[in-house]
Amino acid sequence: MTDLIKFWAVVPAAGVGKRMNADRPKQYLELAGKTVIEHTLLRLLGAEVFDAVAVAISEEDPYWPDLEVSENEKIVTAPGGKERADSVLSALKSIRVVASDNDWVLVHDAARPCVTATDIHFLINSLLNDEVGGILALSSHDTLKNVQGISIIGTLDRRRIWRALTPQMFRYGLLKSALEAAEGNPAITDEASALELQGLQPKIVEGRPDNIKITRPEDLALAQFYMEQQND
Ligand code: C5P
Repeated sequence: MTDLIKFWAVVPAAGVGKRMNADRPKQYLELAGKTVIEHTLLRLLGAEVFDAVAVAISEEDPYWPDLEVSENEKIVTAPGGKERADSVLSALKSIRVVASDNDWVLVHDAARPCVTATDIHFLINSLLNDEVGGILALSSHDTLKNVQGISIIGTLDRRRIWRALTPQMFRYGLLKSALEAAEGNPAITDEASALELQGLQPKIVEGRPDNIKITRPEDLALAQFYMEQQND
């Protein structure tokens, strides 16, 4: 009998979000009547593909238990780590008894609350038969400069430059071993980079520009605008 492939979502949510200059981590700021992380989790659950959503939460986080979504039966929590990659690895370990190496994991930033079911399904359908997996990404419309100090030392070929978004979709076993091999390496700022270090070549799947990451204060108003425009 062949095992049925399952899908798991992993949400790193243990960052502090210094660039927001707020009194709390950015995932707990209010956006259109809910916290950022509630929007993110409800959208992942609403995609109706995941067996569970594993969320990495900082052990000093006082906000999480107050959220209604923390009681959702499909949500499991894991302790956050020092860097984003440590948080993702911790969340992966929390589902190790239920996940198989061949299952797909979609890692999605807590700080990307505008992700749509359309984008999630498009990523899954594009990569389902891929050996390695891949990520949602956006091409660059701006000309990109290589800079030292404030001096331009070159212009990059923007046809070859893509901005990495999330979700990032990889097989459970491959992702876990790639993150374990890369532990402590500061160059690992997303999951794809851990796979790249293994000599693999994850794919890009063109995502939607409304899937923004809340990073600066003005991003909250932009996210609200996108949410009002979305009808999928
Ligand atoms: O800071 P940045 O925007 O790159 O964080 C991306 C995501 O990774 C956020 O959802 C943040 O909460 C999470 N993160 C984490 N553990 C860390 C650092 C960041 O879960 N140590």
